[in-house]
Amino acid sequence: MTNILGIVGHPLDHSVSVPMHMSAIFHLGIDYVYLSFDILPENLSYAVTRFKKENIKGFNVTIPYKEAIMAHLDSIDERAVSIGAVNTVNNQNGQFKGYNTDGTGYIKSLKEQAGFDPSAKQVLLIGAGGAAKAVAFSLLEAGCRKLIIANRTLKRADELLEHLDTYFPEVSMQALHIERVHELHMKDIALVVNTTSVGMKNDVPAGSISHFNDIDLTRFSKDTVISDIVYNPIETPLLKMAKQAGLKTHGGTGMLVYQGAESFKIWTGIEPPVDIMSQAVLKALQEKH
Ligand code: ATR
Repeated sequence: MTNILGIVGHPLDHSVSVPMHMSAIFHLGIDYVYLSFDILPENLSYAVTRFKKENIKGFNVTIPYKEAIMAHLDSIDERAVSIGAVNTVNNQNGQFKGYNTDGTGYIKSLKEQAGFDPSAKQVLLIGAGGAAKAVAFSLLEAGCRKLIIANRTLKRADELLEHLDTYFPEVSMQALHIERVHELHMKDIALVVNTTSVGMKNDVPAGSISHFNDIDLTRFSKDTVISDIVYNPIETPLLKMAKQAGLKTHGGTGMLVYQGAESFKIWTGIEPPVDIMSQAVLKALQEKH
């Protein structure tokens, strides 16, 4: 019987995970299908129960369920527990186990596509949600020397800092409200990464992105890499501003492909064709545009 994979989130209009995973499935000629499950928050619990009954082989989890899904799983891989978020669920003999491939996917993309090694660097992380947790944890694992977490809700940034501090007590960390980014000594920051959904197609009303527009990118050093994990559109408003300021940019498609490839391997045990997946992502994003 065909193995069913998929993605759970809400909304899913921006997602290109279906064409990305289907391109790998077609290329490998394996008996799998990857479907899109746009689930309302009140139906998440029921959806997971149905998935188990239907013996679904595995699924990705995206906005806004990366933390909420954890309560519905049978077990969670140690690294995903440390991160505090799950983006991949695998069916192991009828039991659902959670994993997190976001952070490793991000670091791989950062190294391969931007040639950036976080070791001993100072990083400004924007956001404090599920994606921020994975990216921050992986940056610290990769040896980042100082981490500044800026978020619209200061309390969430404080909580993330407290959580990370238990795993990386030796690293210097700071949490601040996003409106106060201009107070930082920007020349010392080697990487700025947006982990919020700001800039994502159809997601945020134009008026509400003002905090980002307030950040004067010209105050960063010319070597600073501005990175955005949002991949739709490929060139986000933040990346556009960074280019205009003459800074190096790093977009979100690489992270999407690498996290997807790692998830694919967890479900199927097969190393997927990353180049084919990457081409499918770019094609789907161009078509959606
Ligand atoms: P995900 O699991 O994808 O990370 P999330 O946990 O809902 O999703 O987190 C979304 C992040 O985007 C948060 O940091 C959120 O800021 P708040 O903690 O203040 O909610 C941020 N975010 C979303 N919309 C935003 C906006 N219009 N301006 C600034 N930050 C925003």
